[in-house]
Amino acid sequence: IGAALGAGPLAGRHVVVTSGPTHEPIDPVRYIANRSSGAQGTAIAAALAALGARVSFVTGPASVAPPQGVEVLRVETAQQMMAAVEAALPADAAVFAAAVADWRVANAAGRKMKKDGSGRAPALEFTENPDILARISKMRDGRPKLVVGFAAETDDVVAHATAKRARKGCDWIVANDVSAGTGIMGGAENAVTLISDGGAETWPRMAKDAVARRLADRIAEALA
Ligand code: CTP
Ligand code: CA
Repeated sequence: IGAALGAGPLAGRHVVVTSGPTHEPIDPVRYIANRSSGAQGTAIAAALAALGARVSFVTGPASVAPPQGVEVLRVETAQQMMAAVEAALPADAAVFAAAVADWRVANAAGRKMKKDGSGRAPALEFTENPDILARISKMRDGRPKLVVGFAAETDDVVAHATAKRARKGCDWIVANDVSAGTGIMGGAENAVTLISDGGAETWPRMAKDAVARRLADRIAEALA
């Protein structure tokens, strides 16, 4: 309703949200991917739009549909996601919920790779992708006032996420435990800890939509 009326606590604010996995090609028909559904990023974009924000939603090939009421910018690779984020700036805030592939295939083939009959498998070489969150966090000019990253960890969640926040230079990290058995990767719920200057705040496990609404409320407070 807020967005429809041009009202709400985030009216007049622009927020960039990344979401979903990236796909990194091996050849024209094959790629490396990950298990991100895009559900959490999609819910965050929807919650921000519901508070009146103009949202640039930069999404990899997600399995959930993008929300209504946002500008959808579809990308495939991490490099494309980086370029789309930079093109979408300036923004008041940026939320990096995408599960960006850390590496891409350096020796990706321009044509479909074929078995050569020798029984030997091809050797893939990898190169590191740009770190979108770190690059935007460390911008000298035009940095969004609030930069929020995610940290998907399988062990020592708060310690790893706190170190990640310092290393990347973002304002907040939303840390979650994605170890097998939590059902969080691809599931409907999330259990997160919000790490900021003020320390670590653990939220109860709740629906991804509810995490998104709570985070959007906090973003609105921070930008007020
Ligand atoms: N991220 C990003 N660009 C990348 C990698 C990660 O923007 N190339 C962002 C993610 O969207 C997330 C945050 O950085 O908000 C942390 O991602 P994560 O994979 O947990 O961190 P990494 O620095 O890649 O460390 P790790 O080795 O634990 O994967
Ligand atoms: Ca990573």
